[in-house]
Amino acid sequence: MLENKNILIGITGGIAAYKICNLIRLYKKEGANVRVVVTPNALNFVTKLTLQTLSGNEVYADNFEIKEYKPKHIALTEADIFVIAPASANTIGKIANGICDNLLLSTACAFSKPILIAPAMNENMWKNPFVQKNLVKLKNAGYHIIEPETGFLACGTNGTGRMKEPEEIFEKTVEILSEKQTLKGKKILITAGGTREKIDPVRYITNSSSGKMGLALADRAFDMGAEVTLISTFKADKLYKNIVAQTALEMEKAVKENLAGQDCVIMAAAVSDYRVENVSEQKIKKQGGEVTLRLVENPDILQEICKLSPLCHSVTFPPQGGQRSQALNQRIEQEADREQLSSARSSTPSLTPPPYPLPQGAGECAKPGGTPANSIYLPPPLIIGFCAESENLIENAKTKIRKKGCDYLIANDISRKDIGFNTDENEVYIIDKNLNIKHIEKDTKQNIAKRILEEVFE
Ligand code: C5P
Repeated sequence: MLENKNILIGITGGIAAYKICNLIRLYKKEGANVRVVVTPNALNFVTKLTLQTLSGNEVYADNFEIKEYKPKHIALTEADIFVIAPASANTIGKIANGICDNLLLSTACAFSKPILIAPAMNENMWKNPFVQKNLVKLKNAGYHIIEPETGFLACGTNGTGRMKEPEEIFEKTVEILSEKQTLKGKKILITAGGTREKIDPVRYITNSSSGKMGLALADRAFDMGAEVTLISTFKADKLYKNIVAQTALEMEKAVKENLAGQDCVIMAAAVSDYRVENVSEQKIKKQGGEVTLRLVENPDILQEICKLSPLCHSVTFPPQGGQRSQALNQRIEQEADREQLSSARSSTPSLTPPPYPLPQGAGECAKPGGTPANSIYLPPPLIIGFCAESENLIENAKTKIRKKGCDYLIANDISRKDIGFNTDENEVYIIDKNLNIKHIEKDTKQNIAKRILEEVFE
């Protein structure tokens, strides 16, 4: 079941450390290669010799036993999953705050694949608000937490804080490792949140979007192996790239600057259709009587990128030695590999340069008259829009997908209190270009996000 899988176990100083001997055996029985890293305190509860014998590998305990060329915490990150069990309140707090004062912590900080944390501690420690805050921070950043259970604790009391049994940690590990990396190699740009259109330095116009749906899409796409760029109206502490853009104009700029090279763009943000024409530099004072705010229309980002992306994806690039970004170089190589280069060149229509600057190193769009020899046609991304409707959901969505020109539109009914804006659940209809409709029943936004990604990338 776990053949060819490399599992790194991190053990911290807690009495449940003895149970990890059994966990190592469960992994090994299923064919995994297991390596173990321990905090100095862990060795008070379990010996290096035991862990070494069971895992069949050297046990790593500190940063300074130099036996390999590569720094140890970097060498250890070459595993498929890092299972930290038992995880003490101390280690949880340090990981959540980027502290790296032992080998286990430095490894966690540098680890870019899934991390599973199995906390174990006394009930009062478990309930401590700072511990809980740290756990929420880790959960939000995409760490997997296997919550402790209630039962007899080593301190002689009954309560919550007992580490889940090795069998359950094993099952959770298998579940995480079998999550299909179907989006590996894909670049996905996702927008999230309700834009804030400034009135003056303290006031703004916004809407009820929480950004949870966009965030769920970004999380799931990341879990499925995609290289994610999240452009959100709020700061998201995630393991993927996040750009904050609060107004529609800022979002437009960020989306366009990051468009080249994307395989998919998902516009889940609720972008304000209007902005205040003249934003006051000073706080507007109460003067008695009425105040009139004149609103002007914002650009429709979705509609614009649907028109522009086929153009900006046909780029010229400087010949050898020129200033090309690494991402563009990779893309060019990928496309050449797919042997699309020659056919794309001959079939590229006459194009005009886009009305906005391309990212540094991307060169410029092909000029009218065809694609020059040093150009490549990058296929435009799949573009997905959202539509929140309070009436005639399907009819309005069908009209909107035609108007916007995107590949898919995800429609949700915002007249219902239990789903949509500012809730943890949703129920959506996926409408494609040919107006085929797929209904996805009510579920958590995380699960709905997974279903959407599976549908559009199937
Ligand atoms: O027209 P409506 O606001 O209902 O369209 C919603 C979709 O269009 C969403 O995907 C949203 O992100 C996008 N949108 C946009 N720019 C706007 C308004 C909406 O990109 N100014």
